Amino acid sequence: MTLRPVDLLIRGASELATPLGSTPRKGRELAALSIVPRGAVAIVGEHIVAVGPEDELAARFAPARTLDAAGGTLVPGFVDAHTHPLFATTREDEFELRTRGATYAEIAAAGGGILSTTRGVRAASRELLEARLERHLDRFLELGTTTVEAKTGYGLSLEAEHKCLEALAAVRARHTVDVVPTFLGAHDFPEEFRGDKQAYVELLVREMLPRVAREGLAEYCDVFTEGIAFSLAQSRRILGAAREHGLGLRLHVDQLTPLGGAELAAELGAASADHLEHVSERGIDALAAHGVVAVLCPVVPLFLRQEREAPGRRMIDAGVPVAISTDFNPGSCYLQSMSEVISWAALRYRMSAAECLTAATLNAACSLGRGERIGSLEAGKRADVLVLDVPNHRHLAYELGRNPVRTVVRGGRVAFERAR
Ligand code: NIG
Ligand code: FE
Repeated sequence: MTLRPVDLLIRGASELATPLGSTPRKGRELAALSIVPRGAVAIVGEHIVAVGPEDELAARFAPARTLDAAGGTLVPGFVDAHTHPLFATTREDEFELRTRGATYAEIAAAGGGILSTTRGVRAASRELLEARLERHLDRFLELGTTTVEAKTGYGLSLEAEHKCLEALAAVRARHTVDVVPTFLGAHDFPEEFRGDKQAYVELLVREMLPRVAREGLAEYCDVFTEGIAFSLAQSRRILGAAREHGLGLRLHVDQLTPLGGAELAAELGAASADHLEHVSERGIDALAAHGVVAVLCPVVPLFLRQEREAPGRRMIDAGVPVAISTDFNPGSCYLQSMSEVISWAALRYRMSAAECLTAATLNAACSLGRGERIGSLEAGKRADVLVLDVPNHRHLAYELGRNPVRTVVRGGRVAFERAR
């Protein structure tokens, strides 16, 4: 039998663990990983052509190159479906204020919070924003995130949001990490519109959104639906307009107070409803009924010193497709590591390592409309593969505080290798 030539064979792993399919896994399926002892991956060009036991693949393929996993574990590249990486200044002062008892809402009301980051973004050049974003993407890659959703939302004016979207487009075109752009002009009301909030909603609907859509600068539109930000009615108006412009919808909902944002996300047919610390039973049912992916951010309540957490276990058991993310941003979660998110999701939501892995890969990919292309190790999908220096996928949740990523393969090419 002649061996079929392939470009790359990843071999030498103790285990390969991956969810399967191209649609969001829910309920019991969330834990249904394919676990292949001594599993290997054969790659041609950008894509996976076969996944299976190493012995089988070695008997079928003649690889031009091999990558030795050295007893590690192979998993799909992480997909982080919720981040805010377009900022120029950080807020460690607020972190410390919270350790002394101040709340997120109090700090925001005193002029800190999102508006503090907005001042930094408005003062920054596009070049500086690009440089900062690039640095963040480099870090995401080292930590094993091969696809990242990235929101604007610290410009909050026509010009400043446009500057952020252009920086995003420029960096996106040249960086190895796959970036999904989201327009979050409705993150907060800027200082100059605090006296007339409806006027900012109209600016978003009549000028900002049409321009974003016309120039093709975003795939999704997000709104911070919250007592201290956009009301349900304002959110409905903005997201309705976004949908008419052909943008997909993602929403920050029920994070600080129970406003019924999950129900709104379901009503609008959103791709995702994110945060959900205060989601109601009706909201959970609505997300399950409409198949809206709940993108949970398990480290955010910890970072904000909030007691209340999203009812992760309850949502999974109710049939909501759940994804997990960092929510990387300078205010409520300065964290880029999906492996850390996996540990915290396990501990806080009582999720198994298998459930966490699916939530951090396939389900997150599905929330970004990419379930057919990425999120699992299967023939036909893009070869985004991590070599982890852990003996099995359970170890990923179990071990905290260390980057387990030894090698990142992105689109069939080695994109990162940790120095030994
Ligand atoms: O997802 N909740 C709104 N937005 C961010 C926080 C933004 C900030 O504080 O800068 C979040 O938690
Ligand atoms: Fe967020």
